[in-house]
Amino acid sequence: MVTELAPPRRSAVRRFWASTIGKKAVMAVTGVLLLAFVLAHMVGNLKTFLGAAELNHYAGWLRTIGEPVLRREWFLWLQRAVLLVALVLHVTAAVQLARRDLRARPVRYVHRRPRASFAVRTMRWGGATLAVFVVWHILDFTVGTVNRDFVAGDPYHNLVADFRVWWVNVIYLVALAMLGLHIHHGFTSAARTLGVARPRRERAIKILGSTTAVAVAGGYALVPVAIMTGLVH
Ligand code: HEM
Repeated sequence: MVTELAPPRRSAVRRFWASTIGKKAVMAVTGVLLLAFVLAHMVGNLKTFLGAAELNHYAGWLRTIGEPVLRREWFLWLQRAVLLVALVLHVTAAVQLARRDLRARPVRYVHRRPRASFAVRTMRWGGATLAVFVVWHILDFTVGTVNRDFVAGDPYHNLVADFRVWWVNVIYLVALAMLGLHIHHGFTSAARTLGVARPRRERAIKILGSTTAVAVAGGYALVPVAIMTGLVH
């Protein structure tokens, strides 16, 4: 008697991750989480305009969140772990979806593959640029290895020292433009995936996405621009 072997059963989580909509949902949810951090970080950075004491006090407070239930910096490390997992999932899903997209066509193109749309290309290249920027940025302000005059525990000093150098401003302003474009396109995609973007709301979501993108890129840019122009010193 021949018994047919049942195909191996995959867990619901694996099936979800293997599906295109599952990966898109992971991208959308992790994107929202990363955006929440980006918004909070931007508001914190604006404390630069209130002076060294305010900004440094705020940076110190970040290390004491949750005390005395948590010990010093535990919250910070928890936040770092959550952000890292979110980022890895976001990037992995993006790369796998892009590959799936390329493989989706069963017949090879005779001449050349048509170019992906502008939005798709900016998401891919912009996303890769942002990943490199985040590594640079952590070496700049958290670890201090690429900052010319890093003083541990004095972010105000580190910001002023850094943004006096013209090419550092170029790095940051280019990264912020990429971040703006990424949010601009990503916002609508995430809203569609999460089922928020009903036809009636499409326009409102587009406006909200563009406004958030401009506010984030512009809000972050205020600090380097103010230091570069000598307004903050
Ligand atoms: C002009 C723009 C920006 C300025 C002035 C700035 C400033 C800073 C400073 C001073 C720190 C160190 C904070 C501390 O040690 O207390 C920091 C950390 C960090 N920033 Fe930014 N930032 C900017 C843009 C960004 C952007 C666009 C992102 C993400 C896309 C980002 C992500 C981070 C991360 C992940 C950390 C590390 C936090 C940690 O130590 O756990 N920053 N930033």
